Amino acid sequence: MNKDFYEKRKRIFWKKYWKGNDGSDILRPNGFKEYPCEIYNQLMKPIDRDGAVLDLGCGNGLLLRHIMKYSGYKITPYGIDFIEESIKQAKEILHPQYKENFKVGNIADIELEKEKYDYIYFDPYSVHPNDIEQVTQKIIDACKPNGKIIFYTYKDVLTILKIIGILKLKPIKWVGDLLPKHIKNKLERIDHPQISIAIYKKEEQDRKQ
Ligand SMILES: C[S@@+](CC[C@H](N)C(=O)[O-])C[C@H]1O[C@@H](n2cnc3c(N)ncnc32)[C@H](O)[C@@H]1O
Repeated sequence: MNKDFYEKRKRIFWKKYWKGNDGSDILRPNGFKEYPCEIYNQLMKPIDRDGAVLDLGCGNGLLLRHIMKYSGYKITPYGIDFIEESIKQAKEILHPQYKENFKVGNIADIELEKEKYDYIYFDPYSVHPNDIEQVTQKIIDACKPNGKIIFYTYKDVLTILKIIGILKLKPIKWVGDLLPKHIKNKLERIDHPQISIAIYKKEEQDRKQ
């Protein structure tokens, strides 16, 4: 694992979300200036039953709170983020009843319990391209059979990656282009002006023997 890559990423996120933030702004630790109702509603669409939902890169747990409030299902939230302040806010302000479910950690090397979650949210941009294969397999293993993994990337990130992709002659048009080939073929693609989403339904035959 490229430790320098993650240390640098973490510093960039911290500066963007927490520099000069006394904690009174609960939108900024998730990268927003206004409440992203439309984006969160899009991300929530695949939820169609009660269950455990894991957000990898959860910020302060705002997306999870949205899903708990508006999905109409009984949701148990779980979150992981490498920014300590964001997890503290999740534990103390947004999800005090579920404190133990929020952990500080790097998605690239944190261990996930097998077949525990009904839904898992993951932005592949959160990990180094060299780690994507291993991390994707770990996430599939952590998903329950008949559960769903919701891969997503915000369009501003996609625009930057598109340019890098053109320079490297590797076209990047949607979130599926950031994922391993064998996964890409199984995804349901959803295009939205602000976010690219891909849904992976885990079937019995996807379970590791
Ligand atoms: C755009 S915010 C999204 C927050 C939340 N999921 C939402 O939709 O409101 C991305 C979050 O991912 C976290 N993150 C990025 N890379 C990560 C990594 N490798 N390990 C843990 N957290 C990471 C950042 O710290 C940040 O809080």
